[in-house]
Amino acid sequence: MTVDELLKQNQESDLLRFTTAGSVDDGKSTLIGRMLSDSKNIYEDHLDALKRDSKRLNREEVDLALLTDGLKAEREQGITIDVAYRYFSTPKRRFIIADTPGHVQYTRNMVTGASTANLAIVLIDARNGVLTQSKRHGFIASLLQIPHVVVAINKMDLVDYSEEVYETIRAEYNAFLAKLNIPDLMYIPISALRGDNVVNKGDAMPWYKGVPLLQYLEDVEISGDRNLIDLRFPVQYVNRPNLDFRGYCGTVASGVVRCGDKVMVLPSKKTSHIKSIETFDGEQDYAFPPQSVTLCLEDEIDISRGDMIVHVGNQPKVEYNVEAMLVWMSESKLEINKPYIIKHTVSDVRGVVSELHYHIDPDNLHRHQADSLELNEIGRVSLDLFKPIIFDDYTRNRATGSIILIDPMSNATVAAGMIIERRGSAEKISSDAASKPVSHNIVREYSLVTADDRERIMRQKPATIWMTGLSGSGKSTVAKELEKRLMELGQPCYLLDGDNVRHGLNRDLGFSADDRSENIRRIAEVAHLFNDAGMIVITSFISPYRADRAGAKKIIGEEAFIEVFIDAPIDVCEQRDPKGLYVKARAGEIASFTGVSAPYEAPETPVIHIKTDTTDVSDAVDSVIKQMIDTGLIKK
Ligand code: ADX
Repeated sequence: MTVDELLKQNQESDLLRFTTAGSVDDGKSTLIGRMLSDSKNIYEDHLDALKRDSKRLNREEVDLALLTDGLKAEREQGITIDVAYRYFSTPKRRFIIADTPGHVQYTRNMVTGASTANLAIVLIDARNGVLTQSKRHGFIASLLQIPHVVVAINKMDLVDYSEEVYETIRAEYNAFLAKLNIPDLMYIPISALRGDNVVNKGDAMPWYKGVPLLQYLEDVEISGDRNLIDLRFPVQYVNRPNLDFRGYCGTVASGVVRCGDKVMVLPSKKTSHIKSIETFDGEQDYAFPPQSVTLCLEDEIDISRGDMIVHVGNQPKVEYNVEAMLVWMSESKLEINKPYIIKHTVSDVRGVVSELHYHIDPDNLHRHQADSLELNEIGRVSLDLFKPIIFDDYTRNRATGSIILIDPMSNATVAAGMIIERRGSAEKISSDAASKPVSHNIVREYSLVTADDRERIMRQKPATIWMTGLSGSGKSTVAKELEKRLMELGQPCYLLDGDNVRHGLNRDLGFSADDRSENIRRIAEVAHLFNDAGMIVITSFISPYRADRAGAKKIIGEEAFIEVFIDAPIDVCEQRDPKGLYVKARAGEIASFTGVSAPYEAPETPVIHIKTDTTDVSDAVDSVIKQMIDTGLIKK
């Protein structure tokens, strides 16, 4: 069965979720009231007919259950906040409106529950025309990737139902939206108060040739809106009523899962097959969003809340650092480096906004430098999390790409965000754009002194001894001793050390994944220059990411890059704690601390592997020197 058939069978496309953007003054409540009451009339007209058809009636009951199920799942996912749902239906479709009380925080409607909304109605008061607020709504709709947008130009009765007024507003708003990405856009002139073009067409605006709003909502094609490709099943809880049964409960966030599918559990990366899919009404062969189901696997795997079940060949990212577009929704402004709770699928993770890259002016979409975000402002930020999250880019997956920020003190929702995928660091270092100068008008000069000349005079082949390991593993100790011994042997060399370089060349860099990548890239360039000058370089940097070290190897050269893994178990490093940083990190005072709240990816095939808990410093140095002699870098 194809997915389309599947969906049809389950009447998912019979359900339209929409939000309204506009303040009370724009007529939002009047519009919702009008739709609810007028459609109720339609509904009741049809109800008698339906009642005669017992088959149809059965379906209605099932539908209602489905509907409340979906809502319950959303509530449990914590994606919806301070939002009241109203639902109504016509014979053609069921509707859910996400509506928030209060008109000050007018962006909330759109942002809350947006990861599942099919459509947004942007209300514009015909008397006021296009305001900054209207532009903000259009911008947010495009950020949120709401697939369908209806611009309802309201209060037409107060401008004498003038076609000219309508067309002027439409042209102005269209010019603005042209800069944005809105896949499906519709304009309708209405009077919510009098009912024109809401449920019925009325006869006040014969010049409008389109359909009334409700009819549009009934007919708009939404079956293609959902992501049915990437299976993402965040595990909400593990159900183990007895020893024979273990199931993983949750809501399918995207994709389709079938019995027999080979799946992977993240972050552990263990694999298994789907044994069965259970629901309240019994077993089924497949499940798709937003169904709440229990998945049973063929194998016993340790899975806990917040883990994610995915298909083996289609995996999301697992990271501590993400970038996101934030829509600020609180009266108290964004504080950089203050701990917030980040809600993401079924997980709550602590983290900080480490950087605000820019703020966007909704009027002209220009980017500005800013220190903070205030109510209703939108900006791009970097987040450092204390635990990794399993996510996709929001443009690819609205369910696993959205986050909400909560203030841990007040428990209030302060922002909603859309995750933007960073480019991988290896990709960045090796991509053409990064490895070529920005200007085209630059050519290389070549020295009259050759590498051979330098080798002869300095009596060594230049190389970079790249030490990587956790903080406290002993990198600096081994590196300093090695530098001393090489100098005693008469070999010109120089040590580049993390803390030192971060005082000068790299003082602008912090410890986000991006900053660490840039740190390593610059170090590699410096090491390369020193090597070019004939010197042996020893580096001592945590350099926690494999991809970054691979990038460094590329810059320095395969031959010259000697990777040395300075290895000590984390608890040994923690006991040593030479700078007292682990204590601080455990106390939550340092974000993204390697080994505690940021990852360390150990080398898979280091040239030299030194275990500092069992090897003393001079033996460690001996082993490096021996390797350098054996490979002909220096002579005996
Ligand atoms: S790297 O990850 O970018 O390679 P680097 O080696 O330059 O790190 O710097 C690590 C040193 O910075 C550590 O030895 C420690 O003294 C200090 N430091 C401060 N904050 C952190 C942090 N969040 N994670 C790791 N090290 C940190």
